[in-house]
Amino acid sequence: MNKIVVSGGRQLRGRVRVSGAKNASLAVLCAAMMASGEVVLENVPTISDILVLADILRGLGARVEWLERGLMSITPPTQAGGEGATYPEVKKLRASSLLLGPLLARYGRARVALPGGCNIGIRPMDLHFKGLVGLGADLSLEHGCIGAESSGLKGARIYLDFPSVGATENIMMAACLAKGQTVIENVAKEPELVDLANFLNSMGARVRGAGTDVIKVEGADGLSGGRYSIIPDRIEAGTFMVAAAASRGEVTVENVIPFHLQPVTAKLREAGIGVVEQEDKILVSGSLPYQNIDIKTMPYPGFPTDMQSPMMAMLCTVPGLSLITENIFENRFQVVNELKRMGANIKVEGRVAVIEGVPEIQGAQVRATDLRAGAALIVAGLLANGETEISNAELIYRGYEDLVDKLSGLGASIRGEGGEDTVDADWS
Ligand code: UD1
Repeated sequence: MNKIVVSGGRQLRGRVRVSGAKNASLAVLCAAMMASGEVVLENVPTISDILVLADILRGLGARVEWLERGLMSITPPTQAGGEGATYPEVKKLRASSLLLGPLLARYGRARVALPGGCNIGIRPMDLHFKGLVGLGADLSLEHGCIGAESSGLKGARIYLDFPSVGATENIMMAACLAKGQTVIENVAKEPELVDLANFLNSMGARVRGAGTDVIKVEGADGLSGGRYSIIPDRIEAGTFMVAAAASRGEVTVENVIPFHLQPVTAKLREAGIGVVEQEDKILVSGSLPYQNIDIKTMPYPGFPTDMQSPMMAMLCTVPGLSLITENIFENRFQVVNELKRMGANIKVEGRVAVIEGVPEIQGAQVRATDLRAGAALIVAGLLANGETEISNAELIYRGYEDLVDKLSGLGASIRGEGGEDTVDADWS
């Protein structure tokens, strides 16, 4: 099992460059299966989630190659190949369920294992299914797999009961090759979804309204290949901002879209941390004292659930009571027990965590329970007194490219230690 070991007490200083967005890349790789020719993607992060998905696409008959670091070429097969995404694959990567819409639309059938339970919540797929059925798909449950078939999808009006990112993406992708117009209401507005829509349009799709509450798609006969550059990862950027603030350091986070980080920027400023936005970089400077704050996670443009755990780690030593309300995933406070092992004072009541700032936290042996919990434990390790050893660190490598090297470059005392490769299921 991989470990990351952090010694606390060093202020982070310098510049760090953010990689391409994990969640945008995952969706775009799935959408690339709808292309009639080669798709070349720039700014794809080398993280284990992407490597797993690339293998799944190869299993489906696509040619997937890294042309150089960050540059990936995908050529889908002309006919559906392979058995679909099986349970061991979907278990490693929930985002592989995003293949359902593209495979169905392109090849008329798709088969994806149904994700089981999950570390950060129940995460059903009812909204994905409702949308695809609305477009005319026949769905069946066969031995734990969802089979989807259609002899021709037809545009429809679909209302989502909740603005689910994955459901919006799956339905939007399928609608690109459906006959006629699809209107999807109450959709997610996350920047990664807008990036996906831009990618689809660059291949000849006709998607309008991505980033608003209603998306309209005019179905096309086919989508071409092409070249596209993925947006920077706002959650990776936010993690560096919080890490800089927690260490009381001064860091310039480069290759960002500051607008995507506004909820994080606003909360850091409210806590008394200096944040200066420039065109494609953000300067964070921490100097005491910090103020306690309240955070509620919400769909974009609200505060992102993926930033909630790193922020909680930072708040552990901020005097006074801070409240975090988790409105997206019901089981995203597992990091609390690990932070408590480090001396944090946190109480959880249902969806609310109450953090009472303590003067200091201490390094300890802790375990990453999900990707963002892992990032939070690194933030805690940076501000803790002594050494923090984080086990199950594979989960962190799922979503952060070169995290240990990037933090070392900022002056952190941090190292990765190898071990048996035993990735736990986690689908954030
Ligand atoms: C995506 C992101 C994840 C992020 C999350 C919320 C990817 C690969 N992952 O996950 O990093 O934390 O958005 O911003 O992009 N729900 C239903 N029925 C459905 C689908 C979802 O009830 O059919 C519920 C979920 O249980 C959850 C909420 O909707 O409570 C949000 O989930 P969703 O927006 O779908 O998140 P993901 O797409 O899984």
